[in-house]
Amino acid sequence: MTLDLPDLAAMEALGAHIAALLQPGDVVALTGGLGAGKTTLARAILHALGHEGEVPSPTFTIIEPYDAPPLRLPVAHADFYRLERPEEAQELGLDDYREGGVLIAEWPDHAGGFAHEAGCLSITLEIVGQGRKATVEPGQDWIKRWV
Ligand SMILES: Nc1ncnc2c1ncn2[C@@H]1O[C@H](COP(=O)(O)OP(=O)(O)OP(=O)(O)O)[C@@H](O)[C@H]1O
Ligand SMILES: [Mg+2]
Repeated sequence: MTLDLPDLAAMEALGAHIAALLQPGDVVALTGGLGAGKTTLARAILHALGHEGEVPSPTFTIIEPYDAPPLRLPVAHADFYRLERPEEAQELGLDDYREGGVLIAEWPDHAGGFAHEAGCLSITLEIVGQGRKATVEPGQDWIKRWV
């Protein structure tokens, strides 16, 4: 399904909707070109889960962990753009970062992709005029949750 996200308020609302549905083990896979809004949506999810303050883009650190509490769930926010091989994600300890929590992944295809996981919510963002369009593809575990 597709959603129109004309402004940042719409992005915040989508992030809050996703955050309320997240369960341990989930992945939110955010695909889209440069400036499509991946980090913006990741920030909206993190804030809705209870994070206060900055959310640095994990462009250089690749994986930024967020603890619970203060968040409702632990989150690993990753930007896999700079990976040269998908295996590097495991070499960085991705499985440990994911333990008991949620992975928000920008450029998921650079880490081999997560869409085969039942807990993966795949969102593709595109620039449309001043706003954005989201195409949402829920994994098996998300079909009943996502309305
Ligand atoms: N729905 C929206 N409507 C209007 N502007 C938006 C929307 N979502 C994000 N933006 C703006 O788009 C710009 C780029 O967003 P963002 O940094 O999240 O993109 P990104 O996909 O993470 O890009 P990169 O791959 O370069 O990291 C920001 O200035 C942000 O405010
Ligand atoms: Mg980004």
